[in-house]
Amino acid sequence: MTSILIIDDEVEVGNFLSHLFMSKGYNVTVVNSGKEFNEIDFSHQPFHAAMIDLKLPDANGLVLLKHLKRRQPHCKVIIMTGYSTIKTAVEAMKLGASDYIEKPFDDIDLLEAQVDDLLISNVTSNEQRILDLAINVGLIVGQNETMRQLIQTAYKVAGKNVNVLIEGETGTGKEVLARFIHQASQRSYESFIGVNCGALSESLLESELFGHEKGAFTGATQMRKGLFEIASKGTLFLDEIAEASTSIQVKLLRVLETREFMRLGGERIFRTNTRLLAATNEDLQEAVQQKKFREDLFYRLNVVHLQIPPLRERKEDIPLLMEHFLKRYPGIEITFSDDAVKTMQSYEWPGNIRELSNCITRIVTLADSGHVKITADHLPFTGQRSVTSKKLTASSRSETLGEGMDEHIEKWMDEALCFYSQKEDIDLEEVLAQVKQLESQLGKALILQTLEATHGNRKEAAKRLQISTRKLRYLLNEKVNTE
Ligand SMILES: Nc1ncnc2c1ncn2[C@@H]1O[C@H](COP(=O)(O)OP(=O)(O)OP(=O)(O)O)[C@@H](O)[C@H]1O
Ligand SMILES: [Mg+2]
Repeated sequence: MTSILIIDDEVEVGNFLSHLFMSKGYNVTVVNSGKEFNEIDFSHQPFHAAMIDLKLPDANGLVLLKHLKRRQPHCKVIIMTGYSTIKTAVEAMKLGASDYIEKPFDDIDLLEAQVDDLLISNVTSNEQRILDLAINVGLIVGQNETMRQLIQTAYKVAGKNVNVLIEGETGTGKEVLARFIHQASQRSYESFIGVNCGALSESLLESELFGHEKGAFTGATQMRKGLFEIASKGTLFLDEIAEASTSIQVKLLRVLETREFMRLGGERIFRTNTRLLAATNEDLQEAVQQKKFREDLFYRLNVVHLQIPPLRERKEDIPLLMEHFLKRYPGIEITFSDDAVKTMQSYEWPGNIRELSNCITRIVTLADSGHVKITADHLPFTGQRSVTSKKLTASSRSETLGEGMDEHIEKWMDEALCFYSQKEDIDLEEVLAQVKQLESQLGKALILQTLEATHGNRKEAAKRLQISTRKLRYLLNEKVNTE
């Protein structure tokens, strides 16, 4: 028989839940204090589920949760909380609670459903669902314990309508995690819209978020809906939130408090039901201390705090991530020697997973077709350089570019990849045309530089550049005699 433990100091709540679950045929035990909880004989009384009130006069719900989980690790726990203690309820989920429910209960069906779901769910099915969702958004879960727990917590809070603040260094996967949360929520069929608070000017960001009426400012020739309106049923991802100006911060706070907003230049009040996820690679708490970020807004955004560890603190996941990124190039067979993997794991990865992803892209770009084995020699992680620019051939022969130049190209390539990784649509033809233009500009510039050194002597310049005079003239766009 299913046994449920209820821990609440309010006798009526205990009675109500007791009747509710007994009518479903469950065996219910109710205790009203920490003292009564301590009197339970856990070694002889196994519980399938427990509902714990966070605030008891003589005990802290979190302490009881820890105690219960230690004695009966398989017992599933739902935390009962008032709005003011949601943050603590999230803490409880990090400590092993499966879910929380807000008091007073205004939807009994929901409460019953939550408990029933909990009783039928099992660890394996939950883990599988997490993995499926993660694959869906391109998130590798890996083996790192901190990361696994973080994703578990993200999964547990995904279904709740609470704001989440995601912190982590650049490239650690804040946006991927935000997409995971959206995907794991009931809003997954609605839109997920991201906006970078650092990339837009204050007025543009304001109009982007709240929209504007026709004629609101010069150039506002048409009414435009803002993201709070468009993503009202979905998820709004505020990236680089620390960059939001003071005035935007005030406006955000107002929407978060009232769920209401007006379009710029308008008077009509709109309601929004957007779920807000925010991200930053700065320490937002520190920004609050330095008075750069509003404390009240910080608390509103930071109901759930998810801190993504840098890649250097989860090196065990590097091989899996490498494999994942290599799968993007199905026609190419690249393997890494054990030494190469170790070298990859001992590098600090300041640009985190994005840098790792770029590094793999570059290795693939430089590799010839056929099977290529990467050895540690190919990976001189020196200074800012992350991977060799030696051309990787099937036999791993190396051909170096002009000395020093390879480093510049490598850096440029890194920057270009980084730039394009933030764009959703890339016009590759356009990119390649720009690279071609760069090629001809660089050629011309080098010829002019050499001509200056040879005082205009074309023959000598061509010799120094190891090209024919004909080619030199061609590259300078001079008419070439067709003799
Ligand atoms: N766990 C992961 N599994 C697979 N790929 C990942 C993972 N985390 C991040 N990535 C990849 O790394 C790159 C950077 O991720 P993302 O854009 O989410 O980082 P970020 O923290 O938002 O970075 P920034 O602070 O620079 O905006 C992306 O290409 C993303 O697909
Ligand atoms: Mg990002």
